Amino acid sequence: MFYQIAFALVLAATTTAQAATVPQWQKPGPTDVRSPCPLLNAMANHGLLPRDGKNIKATQYISALTSISIGLDLASALVVGSPAVGVPTHLSGLTFTFGLDDLRTHGAIEHDASLTRNDAYFGDNYSFNHTLYDQFISTQNAAGRLDVNSMAKIRALRLKQSKATNPDNKFGFKESTLAHGEASLILNYFGYANGLEIPTNYLDAVFVDERLPYNEGWVPPTSSVNLLKVSAVSKQISDAEAKLPQ
Ligand code: HEM
Repeated sequence: MFYQIAFALVLAATTTAQAATVPQWQKPGPTDVRSPCPLLNAMANHGLLPRDGKNIKATQYISALTSISIGLDLASALVVGSPAVGVPTHLSGLTFTFGLDDLRTHGAIEHDASLTRNDAYFGDNYSFNHTLYDQFISTQNAAGRLDVNSMAKIRALRLKQSKATNPDNKFGFKESTLAHGEASLILNYFGYANGLEIPTNYLDAVFVDERLPYNEGWVPPTSSVNLLKVSAVSKQISDAEAKLPQ
């Protein structure tokens, strides 16, 4: 019994210490800006990135992302790659900055057929859309979690919907790579402890509240989510998609 109590205390202390390193979640204020990326928005809501979402230095993005177990290679590729693919940037001394709102630029990283955002053609390409989210969550498996097959199904469905309704639909190699990369990122990042399956209450926190799901029992992966892991799972999603009935 003593050992059980001692173990529970150590576990509670570890969990509290983990969460205590992350500043308190706050919803954004009226002049704060946010992006189409639920993870970066959640980081700003926790104060891991500037809460106003503005003028964020490349070095700030990279150190914030690596502090929560995103690999240095992946964080650097995303941040340094952003201006290269057309995200507007601003100079600050010797480094560049971009605000979370700069990430709304359609055709840079932002693309059609997003999981939970409308296509730019319909006006707002960055705000969370609850109807799309419900459709996303409906792909859960029998255990109530989203897995590789869920991601394959929703990626195929969103592309079909975008093609059917958006006359400007564009989903070439770049868009497909990014979209599959995003689906892979969340599987790796929030599903690592459950064999690449994400409990839906984690997703509610991340997508609906734009909050890291500490209260739901999640802790950042102990081994960083790097480019190799993201590419491997991206391929698994594409392969599963190719096997879906047409
Ligand atoms: C500096 C790093 C990052 C940048 C610049 C970035 C940027 C973006 C942008 C512009 C989008 C919108 C794409 C669209 O049109 O749907 C997006 C979506 C997304 N991002 Fe990020 N992101 C970053 C890091 C991450 C990380 C680390 C994760 C997960 C652990 C993540 C998860 C996602 C997901 C799941 C989506 C898809 C949302 C949806 O389709 O509804 N991102 N990201």
